[in-house]
Amino acid sequence: MAIWSLSNARYASSSACLDAMSEPHGEQRGIYIGRTAIYGVPFLLDLHGNVNPHVAIIGMTGSGKTYLAKSMALRATICDNYTLLIIDWSGEYAQTVDFIGGKRLRLSGDLDNVEKWSALVKSLGLDTELLRDSICIDMSELRDSKIKAIASKALLIAVIRAMHEISLDKHGDTMILIDEAWQSVSSSSEISILFREGRKYGISMVITTQMASDINNAVIANAGCIILFKLQNPDDYKLLSSAGILSGHDMEDLTGLGVGSCIVHQNKKDGNGLHFSISHVDGIDTDIVFVYGDKMQVYVPSNKFFNAAQALGDEAKAEISNLVMDSNRRLDLVSLIRLLLMLKIERPRILEFLYSIGIDDISIVIAYEKAELSTESAK
Ligand SMILES: Nc1ncnc2c1ncn2[C@@H]1O[C@H](COP(=O)(O)OP(=O)(O)OP(=O)(O)O)[C@@H](O)[C@H]1O
Ligand SMILES: [Mg+2]
Repeated sequence: MAIWSLSNARYASSSACLDAMSEPHGEQRGIYIGRTAIYGVPFLLDLHGNVNPHVAIIGMTGSGKTYLAKSMALRATICDNYTLLIIDWSGEYAQTVDFIGGKRLRLSGDLDNVEKWSALVKSLGLDTELLRDSICIDMSELRDSKIKAIASKALLIAVIRAMHEISLDKHGDTMILIDEAWQSVSSSSEISILFREGRKYGISMVITTQMASDINNAVIANAGCIILFKLQNPDDYKLLSSAGILSGHDMEDLTGLGVGSCIVHQNKKDGNGLHFSISHVDGIDTDIVFVYGDKMQVYVPSNKFFNAAQALGDEAKAEISNLVMDSNRRLDLVSLIRLLLMLKIERPRILEFLYSIGIDDISIVIAYEKAELSTESAK
């Protein structure tokens, strides 16, 4: 099995980004996935370095597909400024999309044909939002997988229409994540269109499937990156081998994969194929409160944040929690200080709280002044 290792410079820059999530990042190429199994170097998936920017994630239930998909979606939006569209079959992405401040829409209804769903998509104004803002479409409340498949078809038709309106020379990157795609993929001509045409509009498709047989779908077999987790049965291995994704040697590797371990198979633009194992996908803890100022941002683990808030008393903690929830866990430092001033918390206690969650002196001084000014003018 060929092992791809990163150059030292790239190793250093990637480590810097990972260790300093809370700081602005420098030049990065690719989405961090996890460390390679043999040398333990961080692997960054450079979607644009592959023959196409699409990713197929294949593995049995519980093997770690959704965990990886969430991590990729978060890193692509936070580190690389991607716009995100998630088709959320089972309602698993709420926290992910809240974390990046995206919009969440839960579909309901039992319309049973694509035209009716298309009309609903339009009446919700979704057709004008798709691919422009990060959005998660939660289908978990739809009655059954047949209705979900019909609704997702209508959505993908709207996505393709929106894609064709994107100007070819001026667009940002978009990631379209379709989890549990096997539920509709074998019959979806829309997914094929997005795989074939997405690249030139800056669209990367990321799909997950439990069905190794989906590899028979020409577009999936040609994804620039295929990530394999543990598979269900020996026939799956045979299927992937015959599709040229696995060699006999890898079959042994794959039977022994634990949850979160995977094999990455990439077709690079330069004609090389890369093929190596990741010992453990590294996710992002979304149970975090994000505090930002003019020139700073920190990610504070929720339990640390709320323990610190507790020291300000029950009432203050309750008010702070409301602010955290109302702002989707993204707190503007000025608003936070303004709230504490309105609650008549004394300055030394406010400062102690802010220090304990890791805000620096200068950011505090600047934000404090602004908060005082706006509190006074509100009186
Ligand atoms: N790399 C990882 N690190 C830590 N926990 C993980 C990792 N990968 C998966 N898990 C945990 O294992 C469980 C199953 O993972 P996940 O939901 O991603 O499986 P899946 O492949 O999407 O399964 P399904 O096909 O049933 O949706 C989850 O609780 C998840 O948090
Ligand atoms: Mg899953």
